[in-house]
Amino acid sequence: MTRTVAVTGAAGSIAYALLFRLAAGEVYGKEPVRLRLLEVPQAVDRLDGVLMELADCAFPALVDVVATTDPDEAFADADAALLVGAAPRQEGMNRADLLRANGEVFRTHGAAIGRAAKADVRVVVVGNPANTNALIAAHHASLQDREDGRRMDPARFTALTRLDHNRAMSALAAKIDAPVGSIERITIWGNHSNTQVPDLTDALVDGRPAPEVVAEVCDGPAAARDWVADDFIPAVANRGAAVIAARGASSAASAASAALDHLRDWTFGTDGVRVSMAVRSSGEYGVPEGLVSSFPCTVEADGSYRVVEGIELDADRRARIDASIAELASERDEAAGLGFL
Ligand code: NAD
Ligand code: LMR
Repeated sequence: MTRTVAVTGAAGSIAYALLFRLAAGEVYGKEPVRLRLLEVPQAVDRLDGVLMELADCAFPALVDVVATTDPDEAFADADAALLVGAAPRQEGMNRADLLRANGEVFRTHGAAIGRAAKADVRVVVVGNPANTNALIAAHHASLQDREDGRRMDPARFTALTRLDHNRAMSALAAKIDAPVGSIERITIWGNHSNTQVPDLTDALVDGRPAPEVVAEVCDGPAAARDWVADDFIPAVANRGAAVIAARGASSAASAASAALDHLRDWTFGTDGVRVSMAVRSSGEYGVPEGLVSSFPCTVEADGSYRVVEGIELDADRRARIDASIAELASERDEAAGLGFL
């Protein structure tokens, strides 16, 4: 089966780190891929250069590439849409500034996806503020009349918190001097912002509870809790800002890598492994229905995802998650106030 993948912001930094890996088969293996690359008119020349380089790689699985500035053309019959195109956060910018800058982009792209993409499209929002952009795009997608007479299900819209998840895996691995492959059940809750809740409470390291392993390297459980509160959580939650400060530009290669992880796992399943995905809440863990929040998720082999339920949250986790959810609710209200919802 040939997969049609739309990528927005295709001449940008993340896309430059993403398109070649996608075309090389890192998501779909040897299955043929058609790329639909969307940009704004000012970036069309730069996108031409990307097209030349894609051609010059002679990827066997890349059967067709179309570059366009028309969202309806970009999303037509898309099986997947990676919504990367947006203005990135600059040093000193907060998320409200970003929402004002990017809400219109996600309203337009969401509406075009609602009209033109396959009804079971997998949408991964990368552009920030990613959770609320996904909410805006899903809302406008679901309002569109489609040729097939169906309405787009807003649950097809997800946002990227896999980068935060991967960062948390690496931060824990470094602390305990263990390979990342030995760690499972790390979770990111809430918003892709500095209120996010990186959570290792239920994580396992080679099958052993992570808090126990951290306590061994920290000189006891109290010191381990301090490390989690004072180092692990803030370091993961502020990693994006740290990369911006160091690079003078927001993370690109790691964001691209995480987006590919997200799409691959959502497409082919996680075989019982928990991953973090920001998905539309159905009220799980007290997150108001409709908000796009990061949760621990598993994906079946048929590509259906579900939030892992039944995790007992202690008071500390509960309070942190509530704070991130409050931020998501205020972003939603702000988006509504700006006319995006
Ligand atoms: P970039 O500026 O290098 O590229 C963005 C591209 O989007 C540009 O080429 C621009 O022309 C294009 N674009 C802007 N508006 C568009 C529109 N309406 N239609 C199509 N294309 C459009 O930025 P980048 O470094 O690639 O980052 C992209 C986004 O991803 C930013 O919002 C950034 O903050 C976000 N980001 C998210 C995560 C995450 O984990 N969720 C991580 C890193 C970056
Ligand atoms: C990241 O997490 O690296 C990006 O979302 C950039 C940012 O604005 O923090």
